[in-house]
Amino acid sequence: MTSLLPPRHLLEDSDLTREQLEHQLGVAAHLKTERANGVEQQRLIGKTIALLFEKPSTRTRAAFEVAIDEQGGHCTYIDPASSHVGVTESIEDTAIVLGRLYDGIAFRGYAHNDVEALARFAGVPVWNGLTDRWHPTQALADLLTMREHAAKPLEQLAVCFLGDARDNVANSLLTSGALIGMDVRIACPDALRPEDDIIHAAGRIAATSGGRVLVTDDIDQAVTGADFLYTDVWVSMGEPREAWAERIPLLRPYRIDQAMVQRTGNPAVKVLHCLPAIHDQNSQLGHELFTGYGLDGAEVSDDVFRSPHSIVFDQAENRLHTIKAVMLCSLNRSQPILDGA
Ligand code: CP
Repeated sequence: MTSLLPPRHLLEDSDLTREQLEHQLGVAAHLKTERANGVEQQRLIGKTIALLFEKPSTRTRAAFEVAIDEQGGHCTYIDPASSHVGVTESIEDTAIVLGRLYDGIAFRGYAHNDVEALARFAGVPVWNGLTDRWHPTQALADLLTMREHAAKPLEQLAVCFLGDARDNVANSLLTSGALIGMDVRIACPDALRPEDDIIHAAGRIAATSGGRVLVTDDIDQAVTGADFLYTDVWVSMGEPREAWAERIPLLRPYRIDQAMVQRTGNPAVKVLHCLPAIHDQNSQLGHELFTGYGLDGAEVSDDVFRSPHSIVFDQAENRLHTIKAVMLCSLNRSQPILDGA
């Protein structure tokens, strides 16, 4: 029998078996309860962790920092503006240096190859806090949030992602959802489908888990009967602002608004978003999209975002509990948090 403890590194969603994924969610739920009851045990005392971030972040960085602090560890935030990473020093050399100093490394960057190189050379656990291809710590929080908001087990639930499905969030949702046996649907224009290898791999995973994978531009087929709708920003980090001009007409039909909620036929449907979201004019980009394109909110309407359908802030909080679980399962292997690991 393989261990319920996940591998030391978390680079992409399929690094975990279904049993390890379920165990990881169980650990996160346990840690969340410990914290809520004021009885959190500190399991990272004496551990130092590097947060190597090439891209901006609010939730992922904050979740790692708060999780480490609450668990009694210490972390250093390192970005390209204040270090040599990616500019005058290779990932390989950076990995070796950080591995000599730290017990673990969380990485956020562009090329997925970079997080793989870090894991190869650092000699300590490496956790992917987002690359262009995968966002596995986000998917863990997504699954925990869906589990908390549903009366049924995950394998009896359907989630539908709408929008630009070439992004890391959609890839990770597709893969993790398939792994745990969910009915995962993607509604997107043909031009914005996930890469074929990712769809095919998710299909193979679903065939063994009892899950289901559907990628289509037929919105009604995808949303009908869904328990959860999910969307993400239409133009991702690193893409030029000009991309909005071609993306808006392509994606406007996939916006989650009250009409889309109605189209599910499920009055109890919940709405997920990894955040940040463009749902009003109260951010610089939201204001620019309104003045430039007449778009008042983009991928999700403000009334849905603020409605009881929306569980996006529970989802954001769950980044903390799931990231804490990832680090503890990697670094605390001799003292499993749940029985049976
Ligand atoms: N969802 C997410 O990764 O948020 P941040 O970019 O703020 O970390």
